[in-house]
Amino acid sequence: MTDSRTVLITGGAGGIGRGIAEAFIANGDRVIIVDVDAAALAVTAREIGATAIAVDIADSTAVQNVIDTVTAQAGPVDVLVNNAGILSVHGRLTELSVTDYEGILRVNVLGTFLVTQAVARHMIEAGTAGAIVNVSSIGARQPTPGMGGYESSKAAVDSLTRWAAIELAENGIRVNAVAPGPVLTPMLRLGMPEGSPARTAWESRIPLGRLAEIGDIAPAVVFLAGPGAAHITGTSLQIDGGQLLA
Ligand SMILES: NC(=O)c1ccc[n+]([C@@H]2O[C@H](COP(=O)([O-])OP(=O)(O)OC[C@H]3O[C@@H](n4cnc5c(N)ncnc54)[C@H](O)[C@@H]3O)[C@@H](O)[C@H]2O)c1
Repeated sequence: MTDSRTVLITGGAGGIGRGIAEAFIANGDRVIIVDVDAAALAVTAREIGATAIAVDIADSTAVQNVIDTVTAQAGPVDVLVNNAGILSVHGRLTELSVTDYEGILRVNVLGTFLVTQAVARHMIEAGTAGAIVNVSSIGARQPTPGMGGYESSKAAVDSLTRWAAIELAENGIRVNAVAPGPVLTPMLRLGMPEGSPARTAWESRIPLGRLAEIGDIAPAVVFLAGPGAAHITGTSLQIDGGQLLA
């Protein structure tokens, strides 16, 4: 348990975002979840006891307004978790449409940049030695055919992590990422039931023999945001059951 902090989590209505929000709430922190899906966001916020703000993270004006409002009402954000992302739009290099690729990059890269920039400006102004944790993917480092659009956006998130970390270090702000392999969110569980060929194919790539649970990811995010990680910045921590070793 650390002192109660204000934690802002993007994509908080989704599988991993909700799990991360619950972990910070269990830690005693005040959690604000933001998401473009207003209906799902309201339900999640009510169920877990978080504050909800609906916003599209790729809309620069809306992001600026939301972060200004949050700061005015709740004080500076201590911890930002950039978790929102588009992860189910795929296509091979020769097939992915320009529109689809632009959509992935707008949310995963531009959206992460916009929220980081708005929150970091406030952290610097308030003298908050905060922490930022981005949710990347192991795919940023190991390709899978058909997933390169998404994976290249996550490689950019890893780079954004290092960019922010090197510049914000002088303000005492740490910036890290987690890089999960496939995570058994409710959505993925539906799309890849146990015993399905797709699930078996993924499991065969993972030395520890199973896909990640949300509970494998959330504690690492809480750790990277907390005092135990006080000397860690600029890293993207793989949480992949050893997938990169294989
Ligand atoms: N599930 C996995 O296997 C896996 C593996 C590695 C990394 N990740 C990453 O974890 C993060 C969360 O993924 P998830 O599996 O929980 O997916 P999810 O689809 O359940 O959650 C993503 C959330 O982001 C929100 N979102 C999408 N676009 C947005 C926008 N423009 N503005 C605000 N919110 C927006 C969605 O509404 C959704 O609630 C993503 O960044 C994803 O790339 C997931």
